Amino acid sequence: MTEQFEFTTTEDAANAVDTSVFDAKTRAEAQQIIARYPESRSALLPMLHLVQSVQGHVSAAGIQFCADQLALSTAEVSAVATFYTMYKRKPCGQHLVSVCTNTMCAALGGDAIYRKLGEHLGVGHDETAGTPGEEGSITLEHAECLAACDLAPVMQVNYEYFDNQTPEGALDVVKALQRGEKPAPTRGPALSDFRGAERQLAGFFDDLESTVAGPSAAVETVRGAQLANERGWTAPSMPDDVELPPVPEKK
Ligand code: FES
Repeated sequence: MTEQFEFTTTEDAANAVDTSVFDAKTRAEAQQIIARYPESRSALLPMLHLVQSVQGHVSAAGIQFCADQLALSTAEVSAVATFYTMYKRKPCGQHLVSVCTNTMCAALGGDAIYRKLGEHLGVGHDETAGTPGEEGSITLEHAECLAACDLAPVMQVNYEYFDNQTPEGALDVVKALQRGEKPAPTRGPALSDFRGAERQLAGFFDDLESTVAGPSAAVETVRGAQLANERGWTAPSMPDDVELPPVPEKK
């Protein structure tokens, strides 16, 4: 267990965690998130993104904050926060660079891209070059399939796509980020930074129109649909009378 996640389940010790980093505005936003769901505990995932938008990671204070807001135990919150890779256990850089090294991307150059960026930044997986949160700091990570195999090899910066990358092209992107620039992603809106992206993932958009502006489709991605359309191909329809298997009773 890392230092950030050394929680105890005894109430006295848990209450000792200082959550004052989350100000009145963040607390009001937490309540807005909770109001979206019939059960407050369902708000945990966006709440953890809200926490990351404030601190750049999920700290012990962030765990305690979520637990307090959602009437959960810190053990329940930390179990979720440590399960998903999008919740960072250490402070993240200004930008998060995720290089897909899953099968398709790896075969087409993803491993070489990851190696090149790691050598340039002097860091490995989940490590940060520079001071986390400061301008130009970069956290590098391996990523599993980013659902853009037709555009492999791909990388993301703060979850925005940079398609069809080469080691040299990816290095240019990272060097620009280190200079404080925000190169345009191949698809999607203009780059923000890690904390800004986390705020959006929590469901807060300061300017929704510009947040979603930008190209969203790639020629490669729609080519299959175009071919099927031209040739009259359709998928077999789903019969309406399929008998569903019985659902086992929950105990
Ligand atoms: S393997 Fe990289 S996007 Fe699917």
